[in-house]
Amino acid sequence: MQRTYVMVKPDGVRKNLIGAVIARFERRGLRITGLKMIKISVEQAKKHYAEHAGKPFFGELVEFITSGPVAAMVVEGENAIKAVRSMMGATNPLDAVPGSIRGDFALTMSQNIVHGSDGEESAEREINNFFAPGEIY
Ligand code: RTP
Ligand code: MG
Repeated sequence: MQRTYVMVKPDGVRKNLIGAVIARFERRGLRITGLKMIKISVEQAKKHYAEHAGKPFFGELVEFITSGPVAAMVVEGENAIKAVRSMMGATNPLDAVPGSIRGDFALTMSQNIVHGSDGEESAEREINNFFAPGEIY
């Protein structure tokens, strides 16, 4: 079993896509073991996107992810990290295949609906950044 951190970003929440995104994971056989709406603080956002600190788009990234509530979740299952990443589609929605979340619901790189951890180390770090142990079932 593997755990990953997933969030429906502010654009996905504004477009009423929380349910559509969660339904895809559940339909695939993945389990939602943590789930809450949160407004991310600037401090948490900088921590979450630490790997991108210093890049030209870092400021916009932090501004966007803190611009409204997100649906934060822990998703569990066999190879959950890879399964979620492939269901999300490419970072740039224009390169994301139809049938993927980004390929079906997004058009721009900066507003691409969903986040999913890219590895085991980042998954644990990101889960700990947004969830207390008692909030995961
Ligand atoms: P995410 O972290 O959101 O799951 O997406 P990802 O792994 O596919 O992409 P990542 O490289 O981690 O980038 C995080 C988010 O930053 C925005 N981005 N903008 N302007 C740019 O060149 C650029 N590169 C990345 C995207 O919104 C991406 O989801
Ligand atoms: Mg990433």
